[in-house]
Amino acid sequence: MPLQNDRLLRALARQPVDRTPVWMMRQAGRYLPEYREVRGQAGSFMDLCRNAELACEVTMQPLRRYSLDAAILFSDILTIPDAMDLGLYFETGEGPKFRKTVRSAEAVDALQVPNAERDLDYVMNAVRTIRHELADSVPLIGFSGSPWTLATYMIEGGSSKDFRHAKALMYGDPAAMHALLDKLARSVTDYLNAQIRAGAQIVQIFDTWGGVLSTPAYREFSLTYMARIVEGLIREHDGRHVPVILFTKQGGQWLETIADSGADAVGLDWTTELSDARTRVGDRVALQGNLDPNVLFASPQAIRDEVARILASYGSGPGHIFNLGHGVSQFTDPDHVAAFIEALHEFSPRYHG
Ligand code: CP3
Repeated sequence: MPLQNDRLLRALARQPVDRTPVWMMRQAGRYLPEYREVRGQAGSFMDLCRNAELACEVTMQPLRRYSLDAAILFSDILTIPDAMDLGLYFETGEGPKFRKTVRSAEAVDALQVPNAERDLDYVMNAVRTIRHELADSVPLIGFSGSPWTLATYMIEGGSSKDFRHAKALMYGDPAAMHALLDKLARSVTDYLNAQIRAGAQIVQIFDTWGGVLSTPAYREFSLTYMARIVEGLIREHDGRHVPVILFTKQGGQWLETIADSGADAVGLDWTTELSDARTRVGDRVALQGNLDPNVLFASPQAIRDEVARILASYGSGPGHIFNLGHGVSQFTDPDHVAAFIEALHEFSPRYHG
């Protein structure tokens, strides 16, 4: 079925578009009052993820408010470690937590690679429900965490500031770390392929914590496994190429090597200037980003100025997908998001055609 709006797929293929396509990381979430209402109805965050109708509803909410060029599956990156029986739970105001941690070779050995179709069937049900609801209006993005990023949560038992347990394992027992990353890479490949079969038309890998590694450690413990996943993905489905976006937060210094991973696009946070990034990657990949989400706390005029600056930094021609440099904050005013999207639609056509 042809898509009514294929701007994002065209930009990912670096083909001409009439205006710069846009979506927002974490576009469905707590900054929207209608999300908080459905979230309350669902009970817990994981109950919301497990209910295909409600997950579909919150996926659609940002698309009703703003003219976005894609939907993103409502789920979480921590569904894989949850399916590995680590006991994921969310405590209000405290972020994700695991009842069990993985801090030794023995603990890594005990982990089972989940079967995505069976153990994560609720995610595939959500994908199918959302695709039905979208009715080919815009493409649906599926996603996963990167092996390294998932490993940090599994080893630390939740969020961390210094990643000391993860780094202790990485430096102290690299073989155990590689065994863990290998299991995660196999899990992520199977999980993303199941999402693609269920109807995800684009996939993004979130490497939220790749940027805390040294250059050689990034290559050895994060990028290698993401490249392996890209190699194992279904790249053609329903007669269409399935593009892959790699987003390493704080990964700008490694842009050239990320561009060589086999991905179609590289996501950038706001610390990398798009004009420099474009010179560095040439026409190897499309670039996605990179408005600092905290710009949305400034006035609508300041937001407009920053949108204009970022468009000018990328410059004319195809291959740019507008996004935030990281997820939208729960404290964001939805009207400021509207100002951002409106400014983009007003300014971006002059960079095309
Ligand atoms: O982008 C979207 O709209 C799709 C949904 C989505 C969520 N999480 C929903 C969510 C996506 C793509 C994610 C990815 C995710 N989850 C990442 C990678 C992206 C990033 O932000 O770096 C990470 C690191 C996580 C792990 C996670 N999940 C954390 C740290 C938290 C709690 C803190 C927070 O920022 O909310 C979650 C919970 C979570 N995932 C919420 C949402 C809407 C909030 C939970 C709630 O409603 O109570």
